[in-house]
Amino acid sequence: MEERRVALITGASRGIGKKVAEKFAKEGYNLVINYVSDSTNVEEITKEIKSVTDEDIQVLFVKTDVTDFEACENMVKQAVEKFGKIDVLVNNAGITKDNLLIRMKEEEFDRVIEVNLKGTFNMTKNVVPYMMKKRYGKIVSISSVVGIGGNAGQCNYSASKAGIIGFTKSIAKELASRNILANCIAPGFITTDMTDVLSEEVKEKISDQIPLRKMGTAEEVANAVYFLANEENTYITGQVLNVDGGMMM
Ligand SMILES: NC(=O)c1ccc[n+]([C@@H]2O[C@H](COP(=O)([O-])OP(=O)(O)OC[C@H]3O[C@@H](n4cnc5c(N)ncnc54)[C@H](O)[C@@H]3O)[C@@H](O)[C@H]2O)c1
Repeated sequence: MEERRVALITGASRGIGKKVAEKFAKEGYNLVINYVSDSTNVEEITKEIKSVTDEDIQVLFVKTDVTDFEACENMVKQAVEKFGKIDVLVNNAGITKDNLLIRMKEEEFDRVIEVNLKGTFNMTKNVVPYMMKKRYGKIVSISSVVGIGGNAGQCNYSASKAGIIGFTKSIAKELASRNILANCIAPGFITTDMTDVLSEEVKEKISDQIPLRKMGTAEEVANAVYFLANEENTYITGQVLNVDGGMMM
């Protein structure tokens, strides 16, 4: 049997990350699932992920805060010890701490940059040497449409997501000669825990501004991640793919 590909996904215990994990499971990838919360039910999630696939895949869970560089290094080592390589890195872990600039606290700005942008650096920096050895790698980082267009009340989040785009384009240039391709997904409004906090009224208003007239699903984002990360993508790098129902054109 051909050796299975290996995908490491950060923040994959729920939301978009979990659906990304399920998509890769369906495609027969072994998985490294990063999570951070103590309340994560690893057994339950393993069952759920394995239930979507007929493939006999292996799943490794690693609890790590992506803001901790050394901990990321250890997670990557654990993954390589188990599977011998990492073919795909999906930088998905992310948080919001929304506030207007005028009210935003320094720690709200710092934390969002630390998790979303520095976390992406911490993971990518630690995974890339192993990809270079194999001369194969796909990196997909989850940005956001607000990283392109900005959003009132989200200067911290928008800056972190714009940062991910600049970071991705730079590493795409640096790593292309090693056959490592790096791209971003920019989701619009996707139904997850992150957006569940919005009232129905707000959600309706948002949907009215989307050409496809609805919020997206985590599965729709996961399919786009897989499109950029699978073996057949051999010529798309340094790009941002919007998954937003046509909201931002
Ligand atoms: N939902 C949307 O509408 C939307 C839109 C654009 C972009 N995004 C991005 O998609 C990604 C996934 O978001 P989601 O909607 O599934 O939200 P979510 O809150 O359900 O998932 C985020 C995940 O990141 C994890 N995480 C947070 N801090 C972490 C840390 N320090 N270390 C490791 N993991 C950490 C959380 O535990 C959670 O599993 C995020 O990067 C988010 O910014 C979401």
